[in-house]
Amino acid sequence: MAEVIIVKDEAEAGEIYARSVADLIKAKPDAVLGLATGSSPLAAYQALAALVKKESNDVSQVRGFALDEYLGLPLTHPESYHSTIHRTVVEPLGLDPAKVHVPGDVLEGAPLTDGEKVSGAGAAYDQAIAEAGGVDVQILGIGTDGHIGFNEPGSSLASGTRVKTLAERTRIDNARFFNDDVNQVPMHCITQGIGTILKARHLVLLAFGAGKAEAIAETVEGGVSAFCPASALQLHPHATIIVDEAAASRL
Ligand code: GLP
Repeated sequence: MAEVIIVKDEAEAGEIYARSVADLIKAKPDAVLGLATGSSPLAAYQALAALVKKESNDVSQVRGFALDEYLGLPLTHPESYHSTIHRTVVEPLGLDPAKVHVPGDVLEGAPLTDGEKVSGAGAAYDQAIAEAGGVDVQILGIGTDGHIGFNEPGSSLASGTRVKTLAERTRIDNARFFNDDVNQVPMHCITQGIGTILKARHLVLLAFGAGKAEAIAETVEGGVSAFCPASALQLHPHATIIVDEAAASRL
């Protein structure tokens, strides 16, 4: 059973995440952070950056693994998750860029058709996470269809990191980052699997706004099912779901 915390706004959610991660870093200077893109975690990253500065925490040893990446987008593209994670997390927190990994990094923008590069990239990423000792705190957003990372409905709850096709709903949702043109949104991605995500020691899922209410209700109160990938959080011994009133409105 996941713990649900209802907050006033994203800033309050961000404070909760920041406090817990700053304490973790003090206790374990080389903590492994699981990172996510999307708008939901942005206030949390800002709060964490402010807190580690205020408390002068040493973050030089902190490591990070991102959830997912588009396939076929150059790493330097402003909307690649490589660029996004570096812009929203690595720079504001002052992390060592060499210690932060995004699943598509080794693919360097290779498209799905580059079988030689693409095959094995997922398993290698899972291995790198395992060699780092696993993720301490994984931050998560949620798609309106209940996806986490890019694990769309129907994804195996035991899946590892692998290449996937994006759902049409997700491409439409994410067109806002691509000049509102769905045709510019890549068709494929590489994403940590649900099984990979569940291995993190603590999961923190953030959701705000009425658009997420249905997905949150399915996640918290629906049966555990591949039709709502985030419902897998019910299987995790330490999952925290932080939502505002609007996202909690169907609970
Ligand atoms: C993308 C990401 C997900 C993220 C989702 C929701 O699809 N791959 O990790 O959770 O967007 O984004 P937002 O937080 O902007 O609503």
